Formats: sequence, structure tokens, C-alpha cells
Amino acid sequence: MHTFTFHNPTKLIFGKGTISALKDEVPRFGKKVLLVYGGGSIKRNGIYDKTMKILNELGAEVLELSGVEPNPRLLTVHKGVELCKQENVEFLLAVGGGSVIDATKAIAAGARFDGDVWEIITKKETPKDALPFGTVLTLAATGSEMNPTSVITNWDTREKLGWGHPLVFPKFSILDPVHTFTVPRDQTVNGIVDIMAHSLEHYFSPAPNVPYNERMVEGLLLTVMETAPKLLQDLQNYEARETILFCGTMALNGVVNMGMAGDWATHGIEHAVSAMYDIPHGGGLAILFPNWIRYNLDVTTPKMKQLAIRVFGVSPEGKSDREIAEEGIDRLREFWNSLGAPSRLADYGIDDSKLDLMAEIAVSARSLGNIKKLDKEDVYEIYKMSL
Ligand code: NZQ
Ligand code: ZN
Repeated sequence: MHTFTFHNPTKLIFGKGTISALKDEVPRFGKKVLLVYGGGSIKRNGIYDKTMKILNELGAEVLELSGVEPNPRLLTVHKGVELCKQENVEFLLAVGGGSVIDATKAIAAGARFDGDVWEIITKKETPKDALPFGTVLTLAATGSEMNPTSVITNWDTREKLGWGHPLVFPKFSILDPVHTFTVPRDQTVNGIVDIMAHSLEHYFSPAPNVPYNERMVEGLLLTVMETAPKLLQDLQNYEARETILFCGTMALNGVVNMGMAGDWATHGIEHAVSAMYDIPHGGGLAILFPNWIRYNLDVTTPKMKQLAIRVFGVSPEGKSDREIAEEGIDRLREFWNSLGAPSRLADYGIDDSKLDLMAEIAVSARSLGNIKKLDKEDVYEIYKMSL
């Protein structure tokens, strides 16, 4: 294992009806609250009304920032920062999916920073302080509800960048599976793919001697794969929503990957596509991840072979390690296809015209890969395989 320190201060409040916990949690942080949400799903499914009722009963002074985009944009973060500074907001409440939470994290840091928050997102500056915030999660996918990471898109420069800091762990996160009942089928699938992709990023880690981590990640993958078809048969299956919601948090709250840095190149490669074409993160991962594993079989074969046997049910008899690994990749692709996830960039109408530019942006933004460092050529080839 790599040496590690584990510290996750987010209070996780999980289960049916837990939104009532807002009445105990919010007053710990102040009366002036900025409610941050997305394009209106919380108004349609009643979560907005439930939240406002509790905030009103508390006598909170509530300001609102709505319209946070999927793949949240810097301009919206700037708006939130301005509001916080002008109105002396004391606490932020994010109600939505990963995008709303990620924007809230950037607003929290930007509100207590004198310069442009983009300096923090590009890691040129380190936040020294941040406003406290809590979340009411409405979509199982990113794990943002219990981690200190945020991903923001600067639409002008076509950069989508992840950043993180312990100051932006949510103070609390409220997860009620019922709140995810209205997530449409395609977003449900994108979330499932994202959860599995986080598991895979951990699994393809260069850390030696991580048998328990591997078993935890395999457990996540097996559980998600067993549950996903049941959920897609009935999007309001409480138990299936509950399982996927819990798996989403556990896949990226630091527990299963203690002592094991993952690879994360595929996330960087995907972010460049989202930044250029504004596609959903999970959809992009479904297209790219199997191709990343295949392109890098020189280093991914041992882990993929193990996954193929332990998770994807591949029989190893009479096959080389590489053949077993390749069969495992095929099974992963088949599983995602069976959920209706996209498998080619063409599924989003993306052709080869900007592959070179995207590869350039992907490698210039951040160093890509831990199990294998990728250069621009590598990224270009993976995009080409994904057309
Ligand atoms: O905007 P609204 O109207 O709320 O609609 C959203 C949005 O259109 C809708 N939605 C959310 N909850 C719903 C619902 N619709 C009906 N009922 C509900 N209960 O779903 C759409 C997608 O929402 P979004 O928040 O964008 O999805 P997700 O949670 O997948 O977040 C994706 C973003 O998170 C980043 C991604 O790159 C992307 O920008 N990531 C963040 C990470 C992190 N912070 O740790 C890690 C991830 O790897 C990822 O990169
Ligand atoms: Zn992800």
C-alpha cells in the first residue's frame, strides 16, 4: 500500500425522510443561506418545496442561485461568489446532483478568496478559507456529496478541470433514495457508469499489496452490476435506488481506495470531451473506459485478468492472460451496452474533426495517468478507437 492518512469529516445522513435533519444541521452554521440548485428538477419533484418549508420554519433568510448547468460553468460560479460577497451569505445549501455540489464547492472557496476563483481551480492558488456548506443529493453518481473534489468548466477556454481541498468537504450530506426516484433513465445509467468508472480507476492502481482494497472494489462492481438491471426495470424500486445511492458515495469517498492512488487518466480524457461537446460525464466514460483499458493492455492485463475472472465471470481455462483480459473488456462493454449506455463518440454526433485539439487540451491541462502516463499521441489514439 502507499502510505496514507484518512480523514473524512462529512456527516453522512442516509435514508428515507432524512431531509428533516436540515432543521438540526442548518442552524449550526448561520441564518443567511444561499440555496444552490440546477435547471429545475427539484421544483418538479417537490424537493425544493420540502427544503424551503424547513428553511422557512427555521426562520432562515434564503437567497437562491438556480440554473447550475450539468458540467457546471465558471460563469455560474462567479455569480454565486458575487452573491455571497455582496449579501454576506453564511451558509450554502446545494440541492441537486454532482454538478450543483461541485459548483457550490467552488462558490464556497471563491466567497472567501480575494482573487478569481479560477486561480484556485487551476491550482495556482490554494484556498485558505471557505464558506461552510451542506448538500441534499438528488442523483447517485459522482460521490461529490462526501469528497472534497469539484469539477468546473471554463467554457471560454474549453477547459474542464478538477480541483480539491479539505476545506470543501460538505459539512453534511442528506441522501434519501426517494429523492432519486425521478432521475430519468439515461441519467440513471450515466450515474451507474460513473460509479463503476470510479471503481475501475481505483482498481488500476500502481500500489502494491492492496488485496482488501481490490476486494472492496470488486464488491462495489458486483453489487452495482447486480442491482442496475433491477433498477432499470423499475426506476422507483426503493431498494435498488438505495443500493446504487450508497454505492455511489462509497465509490468516491476515500474509503475503498485508502492507500491506493488510482489511475484517473480516463477521467481526464473524458473531461476534455465534455468541455468541447458538453456531453454527460458518465456517457463519455462508457465510451472511453474500455478503450483505455484495451489501449494500455501492456500494463492493464494483470488487473483486468483478475477483474475478468472475479467480476465478469470469464473462465480462464486454456486462455492466455491477455485473452482473459480482453474477454473481460468485452464483458464490461456488453454490460454497459445492455444498460443502453453509449459506446461510440458518434452516439453523441462527435466526429474526428477535433480529436487532435481535445488530445492537446487533455494533456496540457493535467498529467494523465498513474499506472501509465499518457502523452498526446496516446490520448489521440484512444479517441480514435472511440469514434
Ligand atoms: O439541473 P437539474 O434540473 O437539477 O437536472 C439534473 C441534470 O439535468 C438532473 N437531475 C438531478 N437530479 C435529478 C435530476 N432529474 C430528475 N430528478 C432528479 N432527482 O440530472 C442532470 C445531470 O445532473 P448532474 O448534477 O450534472 O449529474 P452528475 O451528478 O452526474 O454530475 C456530473 C458532474 O460531476 C462531475 C462531472 O464531471 C460532471 O461535471 N464529477 C464530479 C466528481 C466529484 N466532484 O467528485 C467526480 C466525477 O468523476 C465527475 O467528474
Ligand atoms: Zn466520474
